[in-house]
Amino acid sequence: MTAVLEVHDLSVAFGGIRAVDGVSFAAERNAITTIIGPNGAGKSTLFNLVSGLIPPDGGRVVLDGVDRTGEPPHLMQRAGLGRSFQITNLFFELTVFENLRLAAQRLENPMRFLLPVGRSDCALTRVDELIARFSLAEKTSELAGALSHGEQRRLEIAVALAAQPSVLLLDEPTQGMSHADTADTSKLIRGLAKDVTILLIEHDIGVVMDISDRIVVMHQGKKLAEGAPSTVRNDPAVKAAYFGHA
Ligand SMILES: Nc1ncnc2c1ncn2[C@@H]1O[C@H](COP(=O)(O)OP(=O)(O)OP(=O)(O)O)[C@@H](O)[C@H]1O
Ligand SMILES: [Mg+2]
Repeated sequence: MTAVLEVHDLSVAFGGIRAVDGVSFAAERNAITTIIGPNGAGKSTLFNLVSGLIPPDGGRVVLDGVDRTGEPPHLMQRAGLGRSFQITNLFFELTVFENLRLAAQRLENPMRFLLPVGRSDCALTRVDELIARFSLAEKTSELAGALSHGEQRRLEIAVALAAQPSVLLLDEPTQGMSHADTADTSKLIRGLAKDVTILLIEHDIGVVMDISDRIVVMHQGKKLAEGAPSTVRNDPAVKAAYFGHA
């Protein structure tokens, strides 16, 4: 297995709080690596550092073997990093189709930005693939804002995948979903891993244990443990800090 994304000794502090404190790990190709930890552990901040939204105080982010530390989000995206947000990032006043088409537009040759979007062949092919894969055929002309919460969260994953990233960061994709939607979405995410390397933040411990190849446990900004689901589950420090019993 080869690492697509490597994080070395990554740190950032906000005022006195060391939100991410010397965290290192690697995400292997076509695997699901899941970050878990209590509220405020630094998980979303870690994603913000990896995706270039905030520059780190120290450490390195290496994507596909290239040191990309401190590069802004649009360059990280061009380098192959896609992400969804803990809080939804869709254009609610646009249709499902338009949300996907805008996101897929990055696949086009830059000069094609001068052409009408209706003629963007690569983008349209990609939108068709995503509509099929995410079972959105009956929803394409609905406004994103009119979808159910579960549908919006799934559309957001599709949007993050539209530009064919090599690494996909998903921040709590099942948050607020019904039990049935959570089960569907976790199956969907598991299926995506054959095409894309996934870095996931997830609170539903059942989902975490079910779909993760590797788990990184964070606590107060630091990495507390790392390993296969069975290893992490039985780690005494993890049990104490995360599952609430020793
Ligand atoms: N932009 C910011 N400015 C100041 N403090 C911040 C900022 N972003 C995060 N923090 C702080 O950093 C710490 C880690 O927050 P973060 O959102 O990364 O946690 P999390 O693990 O994602 O939590 P949750 O499970 O609730 O989403 C918290 O103490 C938070 O208040
Ligand atoms: Mg968070």
